[in-house]
Amino acid sequence: MKTVKVAILGLGTVGSGVYKLIQKRADVMEKTIGAQMEVKKILVRNMNKKREGVDASLLTDNWNDIIEDEEIQIVIEVMGGIEPAKTMILEALRAGKNVVSANKDLIAEEGHVLLATAEENHVDFLFEAAVAGAIPIIRPMKQCLAVNDISEVVGIVNGTTNYILTKMTEEGMDFSDALEKAQELGFAEADPTSDVEGLDAGRKVAIMASIAFHSRVVFPNVFTEGITKITAKDIEYAKEFDSVIKLLGVAHNTESGIEVGVYPMMIHKEHPLASVRDSFNAVFVHGDAADDAMFYGRGAGEFPTASAVMGDVIDVARNMAYGCNGRISCTCYKNLPVKDIGD
Ligand code: NDP
Ligand code: HSE
Repeated sequence: MKTVKVAILGLGTVGSGVYKLIQKRADVMEKTIGAQMEVKKILVRNMNKKREGVDASLLTDNWNDIIEDEEIQIVIEVMGGIEPAKTMILEALRAGKNVVSANKDLIAEEGHVLLATAEENHVDFLFEAAVAGAIPIIRPMKQCLAVNDISEVVGIVNGTTNYILTKMTEEGMDFSDALEKAQELGFAEADPTSDVEGLDAGRKVAIMASIAFHSRVVFPNVFTEGITKITAKDIEYAKEFDSVIKLLGVAHNTESGIEVGVYPMMIHKEHPLASVRDSFNAVFVHGDAADDAMFYGRGAGEFPTASAVMGDVIDVARNMAYGCNGRISCTCYKNLPVKDIGD
């Protein structure tokens, strides 16, 4: 049986989940791709950190060990941040390696460059995990709903803030205690400012709007307001109106242009989004043919995110088996001009 060799960049919350799933689900690999999967190298920053259950001989802090290894066919980027992730992904794609990434910060700003590079080099660049954790949303929008004219994408797309708001509403927990707990559970970004100020949700909305509207919506064009100003008093006030406060990401494609934003909203408790609790996310998509479609699931955390990453990795490996890498990548926004919001 053939062996597909992969490298993982980053062994934090998501990278650890990916590593464990590859070890645990060897049977799935064999059944779905007819090959074994082997982790050949794992890039980390700190070689001295204790990492339980990980074969220490796989660890490296030297990118050359990966980029120069011709046996490595798939690079799984789960380290986050713009640099050095961007340079490494571009180098990997140019070296003919397929790349799977969960890095919404990078994709929301440079996704078009990465996709164009993947296409030029006939390799895959997939990023399902970058939006809404375990929920399949990128692939459904670009494939299953492809015939639709999508006019609206609305949802709760940040697990950390939804967790915080849920704890504040249901248990009267203090904002900072709830954030600390979300960090412990591995939901928050390395710098949780991105979560609580709505930037992380803004990046996800930019990615979804680009795909849904066949456009290129970049993150700096997304209006963002987070939840740092929400107080216990606001939450009590919402309750008086039988409502809860949720951080919503909203994207509309109207005749007057594309509108994208993230802001906290009061939602009546009967509304389906009101029942999306803890780190769960939910996304509504409206298409002219499909009408309303709703996607719901865990939006953050080790295994939910690793599940989405591995879905992409298996897709890439399947494409390798059929020799069709680089043909079904998400080409929707690589060559399109940046849309000015309100155009
Ligand atoms: P963590 O902070 O938990 O882990 C980051 C890992 O990357 C660490 O192992 C770190 O090494 C390594 N790393 C960071 N910078 C470098 C560098 N310059 N060189 C080598 N290694 C480096 O992050 P997460 O696992 O939470 O997130 C990873 C990515 O996944 C991010 O893009 C994030 O936005 C995205 N994501 C996260 C989700 C989540 O629920 N956590 C959900 C969806 C997406 P070391 O261990 O040595 O410090
Ligand atoms: N920090 C992010 C969140 C991780 O809380 O939703 C998942 O993208």
